Amino acid sequence: MFETSKVRTFFQGRVEKYDSIYDQDKKFIWKILDFIFRRSIQKRFELTLAECADVNGKKILDIGCGPGVYLVTLAKRQPKKIVGVDFSEEMLSKAKKLARDNGVIDVCQFIISDFRRYVPDDKFDICLAIGFFDYVENPLAVLEKIRGICLEKAIISFPVKWKLRNIVRIIRLKFLGCPVYFYTLKQVKDLLAKSGFGNSQIIIVDRDYLVIAK
Ligand SMILES: C[S@@+](CC[C@H](N)C(=O)[O-])C[C@H]1O[C@@H](n2cnc3c(N)ncnc32)[C@H](O)[C@@H]1O
Repeated sequence: MFETSKVRTFFQGRVEKYDSIYDQDKKFIWKILDFIFRRSIQKRFELTLAECADVNGKKILDIGCGPGVYLVTLAKRQPKKIVGVDFSEEMLSKAKKLARDNGVIDVCQFIISDFRRYVPDDKFDICLAIGFFDYVENPLAVLEKIRGICLEKAIISFPVKWKLRNIVRIIRLKFLGCPVYFYTLKQVKDLLAKSGFGNSQIIIVDRDYLVIAK
């Protein structure tokens, strides 16, 4: 099986588990485990939303939108257009339900596609790729593609290499058959430079580099 097929199969079966990470109303033990292993996810969510405080009239692309938490939150901020791309049907169903429940289904567009094959008919002011590069085998080609369709800025997370907690993640994902990729700061800088993102801010958010690339 190709590496991307493994990623897709993995996410098809993880919708509820992944979505629950954003749920604030959960048992104490899960809150502790989230704090230990997943605090990056909440933190990068807050920082990304702060970076997208004013998206009124903007065109936004959410690459690997998953259960749609970013998509739906930003759809409420009056963008001109907001598109979520994901290759997992189950993730997109969840995202659509969230959009429907929040009254923004007519604002959002949902594209089921491997991002590498997606041919957008437009460029976007803001591109998000959060929790996405963890699963990308050839990051330079994907970053170049983002660069080519991004007009203003891209907000992208890359998981930090050489973290002790990565061992647990590597073993768990290996067991579940999903490849995962990590990055050094130098690799992130090189990727950004080679893909043409000349002016980037890199913030260390626990286990992630959160990049605001322009
Ligand atoms: C960890 S989730 C992140 C979801 C969302 N961005 C968030 O942070 O809440 C990664 C998502 O990327 C999607 N994905 C991974 N590789 C992809 C690819 N090549 N094309 C489209 N979607 C992909 C997965 O299906 C999954 O829904």
